[in-house]
This record gives sequence, C-alpha cells and structure tokens, in this order.
Amino acid sequence: MCGIVGYVGHRDASDVLVSALTRLEYRGYDSAGIAVFEDGVINVAKSKGKLKDLVEKMDKEGKPKGVAGIGHTRWATHGEPSDINSHPHSGARVTLVHNGIIENYKELKEFLIKDGRRFLSDTDTEVVAQLLDHYYNYISDPIKAIIRTTQDLRGSFALGIVFENYPDTVFAVRRESPLIIGVGKDENFIASDVPAIIKYTKDYYLLEHDEVAVLSADGVKVYDTHYQPVVKTLKTADWDVDAVGKCGYPHYMIKEINEQPTAIRNTVTPRVKDGMPNLEECNITPEALRKIRNIFIVACGTAMHSGMVGKYVMENIARTHVTVDIASEFRYRDPIIGKGDLIIIVSQSGETADSLAAMRLAKQKGAQTLAIVNAMGSTIAREADMLIYTHAGPEISVASTKAYMVQLAVMYLFAFELAFAKGTIDEEKYKYYTSKLLETPDMVQRTIESTTEIAQKISTQLITADSLLYIGRGLDYALSMEGSLKLKEISYIHSESYAAGELKHGTISLITQEMPVIAVATQSALYEKTVSNIKEVKARGAKVIMICKESDDVPGDVADCVLKVLDFEEILLPMLVCVPLQLIAYYTAVQRGNDVDQPRNLAKSVTVE
Ligand code: F6R
Repeated sequence: MCGIVGYVGHRDASDVLVSALTRLEYRGYDSAGIAVFEDGVINVAKSKGKLKDLVEKMDKEGKPKGVAGIGHTRWATHGEPSDINSHPHSGARVTLVHNGIIENYKELKEFLIKDGRRFLSDTDTEVVAQLLDHYYNYISDPIKAIIRTTQDLRGSFALGIVFENYPDTVFAVRRESPLIIGVGKDENFIASDVPAIIKYTKDYYLLEHDEVAVLSADGVKVYDTHYQPVVKTLKTADWDVDAVGKCGYPHYMIKEINEQPTAIRNTVTPRVKDGMPNLEECNITPEALRKIRNIFIVACGTAMHSGMVGKYVMENIARTHVTVDIASEFRYRDPIIGKGDLIIIVSQSGETADSLAAMRLAKQKGAQTLAIVNAMGSTIAREADMLIYTHAGPEISVASTKAYMVQLAVMYLFAFELAFAKGTIDEEKYKYYTSKLLETPDMVQRTIESTTEIAQKISTQLITADSLLYIGRGLDYALSMEGSLKLKEISYIHSESYAAGELKHGTISLITQEMPVIAVATQSALYEKTVSNIKEVKARGAKVIMICKESDDVPGDVADCVLKVLDFEEILLPMLVCVPLQLIAYYTAVQRGNDVDQPRNLAKSVTVE
C-alpha cells in the first residue's frame, strides 16, 4: 500500500526522497511523487508509473532543488492511477502526502465545495489537503490546524505535510496507518517503515495515534491532541543496510528464501531455556495456557496458512480445539468467543487492516489476544495482550517466505509449550520436540541446497500451464495451501490446493493432461491414502509432481517427477517442505519473466480492508 517519506536536513531532498521511496517499493504502488521546498516555494513533481518514470520526468522537466520535502508512492484506492491522482496533493498553502483511507471524505468534500473550493483529483487525500488549508486559513498555527483537521477525519491516515510559510519544516500526523520518525544528525525523516531510512539512520521514534510531529534539521518535536509536548523514547533498528539490500541476489524473494535458516535461529534460540521453550518474556505462562478453552488463529493470506499448520500441530499434540479464520470473515461473522478463549493474530506487517480489526473485536468480546508479528512496534504488536515477535528481519519481497517460515517456528514453540502445560506430552517428549526444532535451521539450509536444482527443472514444466492443483492430506494439505498461493501470486498461473481425499467430490472432473498436479505426501500415517489419490489423478491423465521423504519408496508409475526432502521429525516437516514449494513458485515466475518481488496488483502491507 502507499508509502510515505519526508526529509529535512542538508542533503539534496529530491535524491533522499527518491532513495527512501525505493526502499518502500516493496509495498506495491502505481504512481509516485515528491514535493520539495525550493527557495521557500513548494515545488511538486509527480507521475503515474514507477519511480523510474518519476525520475525520468524530473530529468526532463527539472528536479525540485532543496533540503526539505515529502514523497509518496501511491497504491490507488480512490481514483485510477494517473498523474493527477498521484500525491502530493495541495490546498492553497498546504501540500501533503497520505497513506490510508478517509471514510467520510465525501461529506467533507461536499462541505468544502459548498465553501467554494474546487478539486482537481478523485482522491480522498486532496480532501484532507483542502480541509487542512481551510482550517489553516483562520487558525494560522499549523499544529493547531492539523489537530483541528484530524478531529474531522474518520478512517486511517499517515500524513506528511508541508506549509508554504514554514520552509524547511516537515509536519506529520498519523491514525491507524504506520509512520515512524527517523532521527539523524542535523537531519530528520518520516517514513512508513524503517527500511526507507536505514541508509541514513537506525534511530527512530514511533508516532502514536493522533500525535503531531514537527521536524526541522536540528530537531523533532512531538505534540499530543491538546498541543502538549510529548517525550518520545528513541528506538534503534537492529539490522544493517544489507538487511534491506539484495546483496547480489537477483530478487529479494530468493534472498529471503536463503535467509530462512538465520531467521529461524533468531526466532527460536532466544526462546529456548534448558532445552525447553520459555515464552515468559512474551507474557505467556504455563498457568495461563492451562486456562485456555478454545484457540482461534486469525490472519490473512500466508499468515493464515501458517495458522493452518499451527492448528494441525496444536490439535495433534496439545489436544486443544483450534479454529483457523480468515480475518476478513472472522470480523463480520459475530464469532462466538469470550473469556477463556485465546485469539492468535498472525501478521508479518502487524498493520493488516482486517487482522487488526479482528484483534480489536476479540478484545472487545473479552477474549485474550496473542499477536505473532514480525514488524517491531507495529499496531497489532502494540495492542495485543501477549506478543511473540518473529525475528525474520525486514521482508521486502511482496511474496512472503521467511516471515511464513518463522511464523511456523513460533506455531511449534507455542504448541510444545501448550502441550506440556496441559500435560498432553511429558518432559522427555517436550525436550525432544524442542531439540528437533533447534535442528531446523540446519535442515532448512540443507533443503535449500538439495532441492534448488530439481525445483528449477519442475518449474520449466509448469511455465506453460494454465492451471495447477496442489493436493495433500493433514499437514501436507495445510502446507499445499501456501504452495498454491505462492505460485499463483507471482507466476500468475491459476492454482488451487485441495484436500486429496476431497477430490472425488467434484474437483477431479477438472483433471486433464493439461493440468499438472503437485502432490505432497510426507506424513507416514497418510502416505498410502495420498498415493491412492495420486493414482486416481494419474489415471485421468494428470502430470504428477510428487513431494515426499527421501526414504519413501515411490513406485515408478505413481508420479512423473519425484522431489524428495530429507527425512526428519514428521511433525516438523512443513518447515522443510515449504522450501521446494517456494522455490518452484520463484523459478516459475522468473522463467515467465514476471516482476517477482512486486507482483501486479499486490501490496505488501494491506492497510485497507
Ligand atoms: C502472500 C502474502 C500475503 C500476506 C497477507 C497478510 O505472500 O504475503 O498473503 O500474508 O497479506 O499480511 P500480514 O502478514 O502482513 O498480515
């Protein structure tokens, strides 16, 4: 979704803004723009398309020159992608960029039109610019005008603002949408996310809802809604510039696939004490776990798929009832939850609108909430009752890989802890599972090495397919859901995942020679059953790619291609098997010439419902 940046300091602001926006490209966008103070006048450059289109335009028409300004990448919500609808937008003396959605923009627009104002664009953002200008006309203090304007706004916003009479000053305010304030030496920044500014500084403040920040080269001041100064705590990002660069890899996605062993290590090792998981620093105690009645895992997309694996594992070893819900469904279906229930919200970004709304609903209904989040200081992380951070580091590729992997790791840590607290596994088993989880970084590394070549070969066979089916049972089915999503989102080949035993009830009629089937069969107890289902699709002409364990003896007539993963503790196999599924999706998309890291129509952080 939209990305915001702002800069004030001593460097060429246009260059800093474009460079920072480049670091936010992963969020997905269809136009870009900047506004820079040039000799005290606000100079705007904006363009439909990618940042390179904006840069080309500025090369031709002149780049705004100055040391302070704001910038934006837009993911269209109100009005098509166009030069006019691109941000920044202006009222007479105010220019701003916006991330979020103003729900009551229509009524505000009507009011402003009646007041004699004219609009150039279809955006809700221009309404905010004109409204702020309206209040600024008779309040004349920019901070008071911002506070007054936000009182009228319903919805979500992060705004970067410049006022004509305040050269080399950048103002910012946020509600719901993320925004951080980067603090440098003689220069300061605003950004939707830390990666945007990490090249310049690692120090930042988190802005709370409705706080107003005022940035100049020599300092940052923050005010609350009563115009009282707020003392902020400085935070420091613990990654370096390499964490947000490609480091020689052709795409972020493949870099992030390769970072998975480190991500698991960083997530699991600090949570294991004396050979056992210990989640007390996350506010999770065995006493609290014993009191849990039902568990609901609520999330979107890939994060929800990690919950599917979590469900199988928790039900299997902790004998606790777990429901997995899509956040956008959960929030509107009046779920039967209350005291004694635990709602686990899983989110890489920690800002997904539906997941956040689901969590707030759960709290309202008296349930306990546990967030499993990757982005530090994000809204979901801040509002949850209990919190487990996944330590994947910044995930830039829109298609999630390493974040999913560490979400799985946390599902296991939590399931082991829950099972032991509930007495469904003894200490020996508890320690055994934990020791196996500690082995997963090495096993995932070996899986990347041993499956890359065959994944490349398989993808060559998939590039001309129009449609694909993933099948599996139990944990393999849960995992297939993610394999299928990964493939479709970046290769644009339609695919579905199906519980193998369910095929006969309708879907098998789709099977032809033109529809490849990826069958995952790694669970011994279900192996024979899945093999029978594979034979059924094979008999109807499907080309079958089978994924199973090294030790499985696959009869020659079952599959056209067999990809074997290392033998390992079966309950943990999803962490290994997701690797070839990610690789197959990646290489298929690469061979089809797609924009792997920024697939069409998708945004990394889905902050609107
Ligand atoms: C797919 C993908 C999405 C996200 C989903 C939730 O690769 O990344 O399906 O998983 O949009 O996002 P978060 O985890 O940020 O809540």
